[in-house]
Amino acid sequence: MSANQTQLHDSPARYGTLSRFFHWSMAAILAWQFATALAHLQLEDTAIEGFLWGTHKVVGLLLIILIVLRGLWSLHNRGHRPASLSLMAKLGHLALYTLMLVVPAIGLLRQYGSGRAFEPFGLPLMPGFEGGSIGWMTAPGVLHSWLGWLLLVLIVGHIAMVYVHRRRPRDEDVLARMLGNRQPSSAGSR
Ligand code: HEM
Ligand code: HEM
Repeated sequence: MSANQTQLHDSPARYGTLSRFFHWSMAAILAWQFATALAHLQLEDTAIEGFLWGTHKVVGLLLIILIVLRGLWSLHNRGHRPASLSLMAKLGHLALYTLMLVVPAIGLLRQYGSGRAFEPFGLPLMPGFEGGSIGWMTAPGVLHSWLGWLLLVLIVGHIAMVYVHRRRPRDEDVLARMLGNRQPSSAGSR
């Protein structure tokens, strides 16, 4: 297939259209999600917090749906995706996947266990219940914020490593695999 043809599936040279869609749309939505969390932490009781924080749960729900689909798609493409540059890169991506799933999952678990209703777009996803909260569901809730901030730290590290690989002459410019139609430059270190 030529470098300029649309390619739905991944190949060893580059990520395909669907993987790129998941990657960049989730990057943008996660940026919004962290803006809501920062507003909650730093701008309590302001109009900005009122607006941003009001979207946190529903955007979190959207993110967990996207990460499940993305994970399934990456499993489907296993064996013919671009190879990781190193074991660290592989583990880093695995950690990003794990936290993108675990952080919203804990949020939803705590939401259910609290007994409070959660009805995104009016859909009765969690109608709520009487009689107090369910302890084992709400207890891991404290981890939600900590792991959420850890995810942000890993994302900053991930972006920094993309820059490092671009700058190091002997490394492969991995951005070419995830952006545009260019074929990546031949790897000096693989
Ligand atoms: C990938 C998705 C998500 C990310 C990255 C994320 C991240 C965060 C972060 C960093 C905080 C800490 C904010 C602070 O320190 O004030 C937080 C708080 C919170 N999140 Fe999420 N969240 C996600 C999804 C969800 C979901 C799906 C729910 C529930 C349906 C949820 C409910 C909450 C609640 C209630 C708090 C406030 C906790 C408190 O004040 O103790 N989050 N989230
Ligand atoms: C919320 C932010 C982000 C997250 C959670 C994230 C996560 C990931 C993950 C899990 C992968 C592995 C491929 C996959 O399975 O999709 C990946 C690959 C990649 N990401 Fe990100 N990413 C984020 C933002 C960015 C940004 C802003 C850039 C650009 C500076 C970037 C550049 C890349 C590149 C170039 C690859 C391919 C790496 C390779 O082939 O080894 N990412 N990203």
